Amino acid sequence: MSTDSKVPSVILNNGVEMPQLGFGVWQVPDDEAAKAVATALEAGYRSIDTAAIYENERGTGEAVAASGIPREELFVTTKLWNSEQGYDSTLRAFDASLERLGLDHVDLYLIHWPVPAKDAYVDTYRALEKIHAEGRARAIGVSNFLPEHLERLTAETGVVPAVNQIELHPQLAQAESRALHARLGIATEAWSPLGQGRGLLDVPALVAVARKHGRTPAQAVLRWHLQLGNVVIPKSVTPSRIQENIDVFDFELDPEDMAAIAALDEGGRLGPNPAEFNVGA
Ligand SMILES: NC(=O)c1ccc[n+]([C@@H]2O[C@H](COP(=O)([O-])OP(=O)(O)OC[C@H]3O[C@@H](n4cnc5c(N)ncnc54)[C@H](OP(=O)(O)O)[C@@H]3O)[C@@H](O)[C@H]2O)c1
Repeated sequence: MSTDSKVPSVILNNGVEMPQLGFGVWQVPDDEAAKAVATALEAGYRSIDTAAIYENERGTGEAVAASGIPREELFVTTKLWNSEQGYDSTLRAFDASLERLGLDHVDLYLIHWPVPAKDAYVDTYRALEKIHAEGRARAIGVSNFLPEHLERLTAETGVVPAVNQIELHPQLAQAESRALHARLGIATEAWSPLGQGRGLLDVPALVAVARKHGRTPAQAVLRWHLQLGNVVIPKSVTPSRIQENIDVFDFELDPEDMAAIAALDEGGRLGPNPAEFNVGA
């Protein structure tokens, strides 16, 4: 483990500390997840982001159990899939996630998507509140919620989610959501923080910033997120990249670098628009 990989925490709105950098496991098959998560834990990651729909909670839990790292030093997130939204079905789905993970609690439980056509996220959130009150999720929140969904949720439940995990990278900087989160006290967690490792990492302006610091484009992007205050969960199954992505705490971008990366925002999504994504409704 690199000596430079000490990950700072953000303090969620219920006082729980969450590592600002974690490890995402979307698209990692269950039988490969244990190995990838073990590599990440070895590299110094302490936060893991999975979901019921990723079908790798079991492999993730195996790596956590085998690591020997005290449970209180780890931060495990999972998410409720769309088809399980609704009060009773959420409680059942949460039990099943815990069972697959082999844990008695998670650190963060998220509603994966708002699924507007189902119109069940308020009831679903009430189930998350029960799970939180029972101490089975140390914090609860949402994912892919647009400002309109957050405003309705807070108006109808009177509570503010701890986290909103949204697609966020230099080409989709999400200024409106970030401003609303800051106003409400919601931590912004960036999914696909590297833009899924596709075109973004070859953009000349980004490559230039990275070169200036003797770093890789992925490291420059992660620094941009961290300096904005975002929580990031880069995914990789490649050991050298797993290490590279956590070695980002010993350099700093200057305002000019931050502006050069911010200029890449084009508002383009890699994933679906949450207003229209109703799979599992
Ligand atoms: N809430 C949601 O709806 C939602 C949606 C999508 C993702 N997520 C979460 O966010 C996590 C991260 O997002 P993501 O997996 O979509 O994309 P990402 O982390 O932005 O990018 C992952 C891709 O980039 C490559 N990569 C990783 N590090 C690299 C590096 N240093 N240099 C070059 N390429 C690199 C990976 O390749 P290799 O693996 O081959 O190394 C992989 O193909 C997910 O795993 C998941 O936990 C949540």
